[in-house]
Amino acid sequence: MSRTVWKCVLSALGLFGLIVLLRNITTEQNWRNHILAPPSEVQNWIQSSNLTGGLPAFTRSRSFCLHPDQPPSPEEELEERELLDSIDWPQPPPGSEPPTWSQTSDPAHSLFTIVPSKNGQGWYVGDQLEAVVRLHDFEGRPKRYGGDLLLARLRNAKYKAGVAGQVLDHENGLYSARFPLLWEGSAQVGLTLVHSSEAVAVLRRMREKRPDRVYFSSVFRRGNRSEKTECNVFLPRDRGPLCNLTDPRSGAPWYCYKPKTLNCDARYSHSMGGYAKNLISKKEALLFKRGKNVIVPIRASTTDTINVLPARTGSSSRQTDPVMLATSGYYYQDSWRPLGGVPMGRFDGASAITRCLTGMLVYMYGDSTLRQWFEYLLSVLPDVKKVNLENPKKSGPFMAVDSVHNILLEYRFHGPPIRIQPVMVSELRYIANELDGLTGGPNTAVVLGIWAHFGTFPLEVYVQRLRHIRKAVLRLLDRAPGTAVVIRTANPQEPRRAGSLYNNEWLMLQQDAVLRRMFKHVNVMWVDAWQMCLAHRLPHNLHPPRAIVKDMVDMMLSYVCRNGTRNYPYS
Ligand SMILES: *[C@@H]1O[C@H](CO)[C@@H](O)[C@H](O)[C@H]1NC(C)=O
Ligand SMILES: *[C@@H]1O[C@H](CO)[C@@H](O)[C@H](O)[C@H]1NC(C)=O
Ligand SMILES: *[C@@H]1O[C@H](CO)[C@@H](O)[C@H](O)[C@H]1NC(C)=O
Ligand SMILES: *[C@@H]1O[C@H](CO)[C@@H](O)[C@H](O)[C@H]1NC(C)=O
Repeated sequence: MSRTVWKCVLSALGLFGLIVLLRNITTEQNWRNHILAPPSEVQNWIQSSNLTGGLPAFTRSRSFCLHPDQPPSPEEELEERELLDSIDWPQPPPGSEPPTWSQTSDPAHSLFTIVPSKNGQGWYVGDQLEAVVRLHDFEGRPKRYGGDLLLARLRNAKYKAGVAGQVLDHENGLYSARFPLLWEGSAQVGLTLVHSSEAVAVLRRMREKRPDRVYFSSVFRRGNRSEKTECNVFLPRDRGPLCNLTDPRSGAPWYCYKPKTLNCDARYSHSMGGYAKNLISKKEALLFKRGKNVIVPIRASTTDTINVLPARTGSSSRQTDPVMLATSGYYYQDSWRPLGGVPMGRFDGASAITRCLTGMLVYMYGDSTLRQWFEYLLSVLPDVKKVNLENPKKSGPFMAVDSVHNILLEYRFHGPPIRIQPVMVSELRYIANELDGLTGGPNTAVVLGIWAHFGTFPLEVYVQRLRHIRKAVLRLLDRAPGTAVVIRTANPQEPRRAGSLYNNEWLMLQQDAVLRRMFKHVNVMWVDAWQMCLAHRLPHNLHPPRAIVKDMVDMMLSYVCRNGTRNYPYS
C-alpha cells in the first residue's frame, strides 16, 4: 500500500473515533438549520448514456483516495475531521436497514402540536414558539429513531411575512421546531418532511459510493480529428489510461480518460455528460416518492396558527437566544429584514445602485444562482453594457461596463465540476486562481456562490475546494483589506425536483453547513439564500424568483457601500 493510501485509512479511523466521542453532543448543538422545501431531479435529467455503462461502484479504494492531489496539512486534516463531525447526522440504528417500507416515516400519519405558551399567557413579539413533531410510519406506529429531514417556517399571508424555523432532532421520532416571533398578529406554522431518515441513509450512501452519478465529458481536438471521453473528479483507473488534468495551482483534481488517438493537451471543451441510472433498488425507490414521503406537509394535531401580541418590555435579547442567533432575518411586507449585521438598504432603481457602485469593480464567481445577480444588475442598470456578447448565455464569462460611472461587473463560472453545455477549456477557471489575480481594495467587491454542482461528491471534495478558495480570500484580504467579500449560500429547490439523487436538499444542507463553518472566522458578508427562500411566500426554486434576487443583491450592496463613503439609501 502506498503512503497516500495509508493516510486515507488512518484518517478514516481517526474520524470514526471522533464520531463516537461526539455522539453525545448537547441539544443546542444539535439544532439544525433546516428550513423548508426542496428538490431534486426532473425525470428527464435521467438520460441514459453509454458513457457509464457497466461502471463498477466507486469505492474508497486505491483508485479513489480523496486527496490524491496536494495532500492536506495536519491542521487541514484536523479541520476536515471536525467539519465532518460537526455535520454528523443521526442514522437509523444498525439492523434496521433495510427496513420494510411500511416501517419508514410517513408524513400523512405524522402530526405536530404547538407547545402552549408559558403559563397560558399567550405569545408576544420577542418570544419563541415551539412545535413538537411526532413522526409515525406507514402503519401508524411511532418512529423510534431520528435522522429525518424536516423544514420549518412560520408565515403570515396578510403581512407577507415569514421566517425560517430551527429543527431539533431528539433522535427518538420526536422533533422540536422553534421559531422567533417577530411580528404582531397571526403566525402559521408550516412543517414539511423533506426526506425520511431511511431516504437520508440512501443519500448518504450515494454521496460516498457513487460520485460518478453525474458524469462529464471533454472533447479533444487536433486538426480535423476529434474524440470525446468521460471526465470526473475521480475515475476508476482500471478502465483505461487517464489524463491528469488536476489544476497545478489550486490542486483541484480533475481527470479524463485519455483519447485513443490524441494527446491529453488536445482537450478542447468541457460539458455535462449525463446522469447515471439505476442507482437504487426498486425497494429504495419507494423512499423517494414525491407527494408520499418527499416534501410533504405534516398536519397539525389541532391548530397550526397562533396570535402574537405586541412586545412586552424586557423581552429576550438576540444576543443570548440560540434560535434568534440562528435566524439571519425574516420577511415582512415582502421585504427582507436581516437580524444583525449591516443594516439593509433598499436600492430601488438604477440611480440608487449606480450611486453605490460608482468606481467599483464587482467580481462574481460561482454557479448559475450567482449569474442571476449579474443578470439582475444588468437588467436594472441601463448604463451598464455587456461587453462579450458572443459568449455562451449560460456559462459566460461575462463582463459589463458603465464607462461614465466607472463600474465594472464580471461574472465567471467556478471551475469543474460544472454541469453545463460545452464550454471552452480556456474558460474553465478556478476561483482561487482568479482571486489571486485581483488587486483588491475598497473599490473591489468579490461575490462567491459555490454549491449546486458539488452535491454528487463526497464532502471532502467540497471541503478541499473551499479550502483553496478560503486561502485565496485570506490572501486577498491581507493584501487589500478594504475588499468586500460576500458569500451567497445554497437555497432549496422547486418541489417538482424533489427526491433527486443528484441535487438534493439533504446533500445541499450538509454542504451548506460546511461552507458556513469554513468561512466563519473570515471577514465576509453572508447572504443567507437558504433562509430567505424558506421565509419568502413564493414557491422554492433552484433559481429563486427575481423578488428574492433583488433582496440578495440589495444586501450585497448594503455591505459594499456600508462605510458611508458611498451614498447609502437606508430604507
Ligand atoms: C453521554 O451521555 C450520557 C447521558 O446523556 C452519559 O451517561 C454518558 O456518560 C455520556 N458519554 C460520554 C462519552 O460523555
Ligand atoms: C449505446 O451502445 C449501444 C451498443 O453498445 C448502441 O447500440 C446504442 O445506440 C448506444 N446508445 C447511445 C445513446 O449512444
Ligand atoms: C495528478 O497530478 C497532480 C499534480 O498536478 C498530482 O499531485 C497527482 O498525484 C496526479 N494524480 C495521479 C492520479 O497521478
Ligand atoms: C484530415 O487532415 C489530414 C491532413 O491534415 C488529411 O490528410 C485528411 O484527409 C483529413 N481527413 C478528413 C476526413 O478530412
